[in-house]
Amino acid sequence: MRLQEAKYELYRRLAKERGYRSRAAFKLMEINRSYHIIRRGMYIVDLGCAPGGWLQVGKKFVGGYGKVLGVDIYPVEPLLNVQIIKGDVNDTSLAEKIRELMGRNVNLVLSDIAPNITGVWQLDHIKQLSMTENAATIAYKILTRNGNAVFKAFEGNMLNELRDRLKVKFNNVRFYKPRASRKASSEIYLVCLGYKGSEQI
Ligand SMILES: C[S@@+](CC[C@H](N)C(=O)[O-])C[C@H]1O[C@@H](n2cnc3c(N)ncnc32)[C@H](O)[C@@H]1O
Repeated sequence: MRLQEAKYELYRRLAKERGYRSRAAFKLMEINRSYHIIRRGMYIVDLGCAPGGWLQVGKKFVGGYGKVLGVDIYPVEPLLNVQIIKGDVNDTSLAEKIRELMGRNVNLVLSDIAPNITGVWQLDHIKQLSMTENAATIAYKILTRNGNAVFKAFEGNMLNELRDRLKVKFNNVRFYKPRASRKASSEIYLVCLGYKGSEQI
């Protein structure tokens, strides 16, 4: 087994052993170890949440006083004390619906959204970035001032433009490639800190 495959297998096994629904859970835990974005009592929204690994990590860290809401186009198995709705980030009414369900603006928006992969790098890049732009538009409407966000993006020639647009909205925007990501994968995360708060509903 090649080193990369062994690493992939290791995270899959760890997820199973520790009761996480996805290997992706370890990516969020890594991001959180570096940036401490999930804290007790926070209100968190996770866009593109199925099967729910990030929801589990979010719930664990926010504790009883926090609130976690997940959104996905596909049904997600229920999770204790986590609200899950079916929704599409391309739907322009979604932000308002989330805001209503949360009852206030949120501290953190997560987006691990990925389209069905075609294998054509440029096409997948464009599709994924367009979904991420829509996720960001939702974030701008529901985040509290100084709130944070994490967006998955597929690498490609339009990535820096996305980063620059996010930089207008957040005080600090960093790229992060978790060790739990496959090296060959084009995914990278944009960790966005300190929402400037211009578009809240
Ligand atoms: C990589 S998975 C997320 C994994 C998740 N973070 C976890 O830890 O289990 C990407 C998700 O994005 C969802 N997705 C794709 N297009 C979407 C859209 N337009 N709106 C909402 N979710 C979408 C997919 O259904 C898929 O479940």
